[in-house]
Amino acid sequence: MSSDRIPAKLLDHLHHGDCRELLRRLPAESIDLIVTSPPYNVGKAYEVRATLADYLARQTAVLAECRRVLRPTGSLFWQVGTYVDDVRHIPLDLKFFPIIEGLGLLLRNRIVWLRPHGLHATRKFSGRHETILWFVKRGDHKFFLDAVRVPQKYPDKKHWKGARAGQLSCDPLGKNPGDVWAFRNVRHNHEEHTVHPAQFPTDLVERIVMATTEPGDVVLDPYLGVGTVPLVCRRTGRRFVGAEIDADYVAVARQRLAGEPDEQGRFPNLQALREYAERQGLADVAAYSFTRQTGRRATTRRLARIHPEPRQLEAFVRQTEGEAAHPAYRRFRPGRGK
Ligand SMILES: C[S@@+](CC[C@H](N)C(=O)[O-])C[C@H]1O[C@@H](n2cnc3c(N)ncnc32)[C@H](O)[C@@H]1O
Repeated sequence: MSSDRIPAKLLDHLHHGDCRELLRRLPAESIDLIVTSPPYNVGKAYEVRATLADYLARQTAVLAECRRVLRPTGSLFWQVGTYVDDVRHIPLDLKFFPIIEGLGLLLRNRIVWLRPHGLHATRKFSGRHETILWFVKRGDHKFFLDAVRVPQKYPDKKHWKGARAGQLSCDPLGKNPGDVWAFRNVRHNHEEHTVHPAQFPTDLVERIVMATTEPGDVVLDPYLGVGTVPLVCRRTGRRFVGAEIDADYVAVARQRLAGEPDEQGRFPNLQALREYAERQGLADVAAYSFTRQTGRRATTRRLARIHPEPRQLEAFVRQTEGEAAHPAYRRFRPGRGK
């Protein structure tokens, strides 16, 4: 097992420090899956903005180490958004693709992460997606499609002629989720939202973990943030390794993993509070609060439910259909000529 090869004190441990220092301590070919969202160099609270060239040089060094520690059957998922300066708008996957391919890894999918909400631009089209680059070392990488199938659009549809007439024409287990994913990004009204400005949603991480690892496998996140990857690993029976440079985020990650309130009865997010209440069988949660509670009540009811991906996709289709029907979107308006 890959976990046997990793120093015990690094396994299932949130390393507070620079990921380059952690990576150096990991043996070659000891990690089954690397899934991360690195800093984008856009001046978030946790990053010092560098020139694009310096930023990419630093990330290349991290990626070379990631390649070294990845097992031959392993996968790397590198999730990035857009680098912006005064005028330029550079999707970072365009920059990372040649770097990672240059390290000898092979692209399996470029996944578009659709994000229906976000800032409204006034001098360009608003950004509504980010990307996840999935790389492997070889063709015999692990992949477990059945673990991540999603409901078929017409589950009861049958063959109407031929030898299989009357039999289901689609897989009753569900269909391949495809390479456009509609998980809600973690903003203010998402129940997983903590103090971190750029958190992964757990459902997105879970799809990646379930599709590419088995129980007991080791997952690395070199940029842990508030510990979303470890949380998913804990829930799905995987081991984890990872680093985070900011002490406050490490503390939040520890509290998320512990699932307990602090001395003031506070939780890092609504989800942690609700799960605690469910475990303890509490009907009244008035004694507890969560960090991002501004204007919202803590409740055991599913007020701020995280809707599953098919529902997000349906909402997106409804939204685009509504836009298409709106008079402002008609190219040739009746009565106005061409
Ligand atoms: C985009 S966030 C990751 C958020 C994470 N996916 C989550 O769900 O919370 C990137 C994180 O990398 C951390 N970071 C930046 N440079 C680092 C380094 N050299 N080593 C480890 N962590 C670093 C930042 O503090 C930030 O929390």
